[in-house]
Formats: sequence, C-alpha cells, structure tokens
Amino acid sequence: MKGPLSFQIFLSWGLLSQWILYTYATNKCTVMQEVADCSHLKLTHIPDDLPTNIKVLNLTHNQLKGLPPANFTRYSQLIVLDGGFNSVSKLEP
Ligand SMILES: *[C@@H]1O[C@H](CO)[C@@H](O)[C@H](O)[C@H]1NC(C)=O
Ligand SMILES: *[C@@H]1O[C@H](CO)[C@@H](O)[C@H](O)[C@H]1NC(C)=O
Repeated sequence: MKGPLSFQIFLSWGLLSQWILYTYATNKCTVMQEVADCSHLKLTHIPDDLPTNIKVLNLTHNQLKGLPPANFTRYSQLIVLDGGFNSVSKLEP
C-alpha cells in the first residue's frame, strides 16, 4: 500500500501549501469582486498585495497608525476607503 499512501500525503501537502500560499498572498483580506475586506486582521500596514482594481477597501478594526496616501497609489480605482477603528492619530491629505 505504499503507492496510494504517498499519493495521499502528496495530495494533502499540495492542498495545504496552496492554502498557505493563498492566505499569505492575499494577506487574509477577503476580496469579492471589487471589494476588499481587510477588517479585524490586526493589520499594522496597509496591504500592498491586493488586486489593483479594487474599488472598496475596508480597513476597519485594525492597528494602523496612519494612512499615508503613498501606500494607496497602487489602488488607483479606489472609491471608498473605510479606515475606522484604528489608531490613526493624524490624517494626511
Ligand atoms: C507604506 O509603505 C511603505 C513602503 O512599502 C512601508 O514601509 C510602510 O510601512 C507603509 N506604511 C503603512 C502605514 O502601511
Ligand atoms: C467595513 O466592515 C465593517 C465591519 O467589519 C462594516 O461595519 C463596515 O460597514 C464596512 N465598510 C464598508 C465601506 O464596507
């Protein structure tokens, strides 16, 4: 029974690494169509690996200390930025 077992291990490892890769690559933000929900993730940095065509970015309930505009330049189609419930002490233009 060596064959099927090693195949199973191979398969589950494949799924696991895919899952790790997926959650890591997307920063655990949930991206649905053009809405990225990054709320409740204890983020200290603005995610820079989201699709560039998102229109809504939800950054509520994180630990962001600032929302520097430079960090949003890649999201040129952003219309709504929800940055409530963070530790933002000053807001830049
Ligand atoms: C903004 O981007 C710079 C460069 O990637 C990074 O060093 C910095 O921590 C980012 N700031 C925030 C608040 O995400
Ligand atoms: C962002 O998420 C919070 C809760 O997770 C929700 O109350 C709020 O309406 C959302 N904001 C937007 C712009 O979708």
